[in-house]
Amino acid sequence: MKIQGNTVLITGGCSGIGKIMGRMCLEKGASRLVIWDINGKAVEAVVKEFSSLGSVYGHQVDISSPASIDKAYEDTKDACGDVDILINCAGIVTNNKPFAEQTDLDIIRTIDINTKGAMFVTLRYINDMRSRNAGHICNITSSAGMLSLPKMALYAASKWGATGWSDSVRIELQREKSRVHVTTIAPYFIDTGMFAGIRSLFKIQKPETVARKTLRAIEHDRGYKGIPFTQHFIRLMQGIFPVRWFDFIFGDICGLYRVMDHFTGRKTVSLPENIKKAS
Ligand SMILES: NC(=O)c1ccc[n+]([C@@H]2O[C@H](COP(=O)([O-])OP(=O)(O)OC[C@H]3O[C@@H](n4cnc5c(N)ncnc54)[C@H](O)[C@@H]3O)[C@@H](O)[C@H]2O)c1
Repeated sequence: MKIQGNTVLITGGCSGIGKIMGRMCLEKGASRLVIWDINGKAVEAVVKEFSSLGSVYGHQVDISSPASIDKAYEDTKDACGDVDILINCAGIVTNNKPFAEQTDLDIIRTIDINTKGAMFVTLRYINDMRSRNAGHICNITSSAGMLSLPKMALYAASKWGATGWSDSVRIELQREKSRVHVTTIAPYFIDTGMFAGIRSLFKIQKPETVARKTLRAIEHDRGYKGIPFTQHFIRLMQGIFPVRWFDFIFGDICGLYRVMDHFTGRKTVSLPENIKKAS
C-alpha cells in the first residue's frame, strides 16, 4: 500500500526506527502521521518536531493495556478518522540475564508489550480495515523471532510469538481474498541504543536503512522481510544442520551465542509512574 495520501499509525513512534519511519512517511506524503508511545513527553516533543513536515497527531498509550489502547483508539478516531497503515513497532528488551534469573515481572512486561501489545492494537484496527477492504498492518518482530539466543530468552520468546501470530494473520487475510495486507519485518540488530553494548561479528544495521526497507516492504505488499536479506537463510540453515552443528557454527564460531554478553541497553528509560512503581 502506498504511504502517500494515507494515514499511518506507528506504535513506539518516539524513538529508534519508529521515529525515523514517522519522519519518512511524512516526507513520502502521508496524509497524516499518528504516533502512539508510552512516553508522553516524547510524544509531545516528536509531534512538535515533525509538525513542519505535515499533519501529526500523538497519543500517550501503553500498548500492554487494552484499556489504554481503547482510549487511544477512540481519541484517534475522533481526531483523525480511519487509519490506513498500522505499524506495530513498540518493543522492549529488559536485560541480558539468563532465564533462571528473570522475574515474573520481566516475563509479563516482555510478553505483554512485544507479543500481546501488537495483537491488542491490531484487534482494534483489523475489522475497520476489513470492512473497508483496504489497509496494511506491518509488524516489526526480529531475527530473534527465528533464532534462539542465550541471555535473551524472554525477548526471543516474545518475538517468536509475534512472528508466528503476524504471519498467521497474513495468511488468514490472504485466504479470504482481503485487500488488507500484512507485512512481518524481521531485522537483525539495529544501532538504535535498544541493544547498546552488544558485540556482533555480523554487521549491526543502520536505523535509517531498516526504516527505509520496512516502508518499501509495505509499499510492495511484501508478506515477510528479513533485514538484511541473509536473515532469510536462518530457517534454511536450521533445517539443514543438526542442532549441535548449528550451535557450533553459528553460536560458537560466528559468536552469535556471545552477542548479549556485553549488553548494557539504554541507561535511561522513561516510564510512566504506574509502571515505575510496579518495576
Ligand atoms: N534495536 C534492535 O536491534 C532491534 C532489532 C530487531 C528488532 N527490533 C524491534 O524493532 C522495534 C523498534 O526497535 P527500536 O530499536 O527502534 O526501539 P526503541 O527502544 O528505540 O523504541 C521503542 C519505542 O517503543 C516505546 N514503547 C515501549 N513500551 C511501550 C508500551 N508499552 N506502549 C507504547 N510504547 C512503548 C518506547 O517508548 C520507544 O519510543 C522493537 O519492536 C524492537 O523489538 C529492534
